[in-house]
Amino acid sequence: MAAKEEEPYEEGGGDGMDGGVGVKDGKKVVVVPHRHDGVFIAKGEEYALCTKSMVVGESVYGENLLTVQNEDGTKVEYRVWDPFLSKLAGAIIEDVDDLWIVPGAHVLYLGAASGTTVSHVSDIVGPMGVVYAVELSYWSGSNLVNMAEKRTNVIPIIEDAWHPSKYRMLVGMVDVIFSDIDHPDQVRILAMNASYFLKNEGHFVISIKANHIDSTAPAEQVYYREIKKLYAEQFKPAEKVDLEALEIDHAFIFGGYRMPKKPMRKKRRPVT
Ligand SMILES: C[S@@+](CC[C@H](N)C(=O)[O-])C[C@H]1O[C@@H](n2cnc3c(N)ncnc32)[C@H](O)[C@@H]1O
Repeated sequence: MAAKEEEPYEEGGGDGMDGGVGVKDGKKVVVVPHRHDGVFIAKGEEYALCTKSMVVGESVYGENLLTVQNEDGTKVEYRVWDPFLSKLAGAIIEDVDDLWIVPGAHVLYLGAASGTTVSHVSDIVGPMGVVYAVELSYWSGSNLVNMAEKRTNVIPIIEDAWHPSKYRMLVGMVDVIFSDIDHPDQVRILAMNASYFLKNEGHFVISIKANHIDSTAPAEQVYYREIKKLYAEQFKPAEKVDLEALEIDHAFIFGGYRMPKKPMRKKRRPVT
């Protein structure tokens, strides 16, 4: 997608690491770090989530760019992250406890599409992290490949996530798998990829659209069944985040993989 013209800021004051102050359309905007590392909040007339852009001056899918100018003249650019276009941002708005996708993380992203969310994950993990982005469709994949040309931490892989053996030479061990494939057997796909690439005690995030899995059952019943499948595949679901406010019958499940069993608690002898 063509780069959108950068919005000019008239003054600044950020240190390049922890947000800063800019002026947009004559109005002050303050950028502050979110409690999730690598995510920021732009506070102007309205609040907006954003990530610090890996590629200054580039809008990936038409999102707004906010630029903060440091005292030394260098600029830090933030990209507004719209929860209606990228459901992972929705999970943050819905106050997910732990995102697991953090600066420096190695992430395997299944169902990358054109790279809308991948681009923000790339911003979050930053230059020390990596995003292996798997997408089946050549059409979406071509946008993903174009985006990755400028984002050196994104490795685009146009392949079928049902066959991780086909891309095992390209992908290292990862800290997190993010799965957004929208397939009734998505837990199986996630499990196969985890067995190849996910570190023990690594983490997963899976997006579940209940009516795409079973349109005849209530969403909560579908989530319950998917959670049971996750347990059967050595995942330990820790948190379910409903995205009802953004999209009906859609939730994310976050959790761990091959987590250590808690040590048995010794029975206490009654104090006599
Ligand atoms: C819901 S969209 C993903 C949206 C994307 N995660 C985002 O937030 O920008 C699901 C994507 O999964 C892809 N997909 C479906 N089956 C797949 C498979 N077996 N392997 C890899 N990708 C697949 C589809 O082509 C589609 O682009």
